[in-house]
Amino acid sequence: MAVQMAPSILSADFARLADEAAAVAAVADWLHVDVMDNHFVPNLTIGLPVVESLLKHTGLPLDCHLMITEPDQWAPAYAEAGARNVTVHAEALQSPVRTLRLIRAAGARAGLGVNPATAVEPYEDLLAEIDMLLLMTVEPGFGGQSFLELVLPKLRRARALVQRHGGSVWLQVDGGVSEDTIDRCAEAGADVFVAGSAVYGADDPAAAVQALREQAERATARSAWHG
Ligand code: DX5
Ligand code: ZN
Repeated sequence: MAVQMAPSILSADFARLADEAAAVAAVADWLHVDVMDNHFVPNLTIGLPVVESLLKHTGLPLDCHLMITEPDQWAPAYAEAGARNVTVHAEALQSPVRTLRLIRAAGARAGLGVNPATAVEPYEDLLAEIDMLLLMTVEPGFGGQSFLELVLPKLRRARALVQRHGGSVWLQVDGGVSEDTIDRCAEAGADVFVAGSAVYGADDPAAAVQALREQAERATARSAWHG
């Protein structure tokens, strides 16, 4: 599946979200929206009302990443509001199958997120229930952290798992993705790339997305798993 670029608005100016979305609208595939509740992660960001407003002001599909303690309770509403993708964390789900199915039933794609220390193998049987597996490459909570190299072996194992199951689940990396790390992510098996500070910290966010995409596509083309 083609490389997907999802700039994260966590590193954008929250008072100018519509403009910040517009800045990458021509070059991004999705806009990544980090929802944090100050319980699952030690940070508080935005929730459903802001997602609903953003949907009115951008044509970009929203990729909502819920870092909250009660995803079973809240995730379906993001799908119903019109988010294209809704990702919920394995560590927080009480009823993964039900919640993933509710997300899909509401018309969104279902994503399953795992923190750096969470293994993917226990979730093999859920692959048919999801459209995307999100591998955190930092501890979730903040933008601008250093990429955790220790996630790369898990990413390779996740790619092998996905390929065994037909290859139709996206593998998303999130955290510390930059020009220094994106090649290794693509080579290890990622095909969806979230980047916050590497995009919104750049003078020209759109050019940064384009440059990262070209890097990821070149690295994918030479990777062992691809093709
Ligand atoms: C962190 C968030 C990320 C964040 C990544 O918990 O899930 O989406 O925006 O930021 P960077 O790309 O700066 O590491
Ligand atoms: Zn995120």
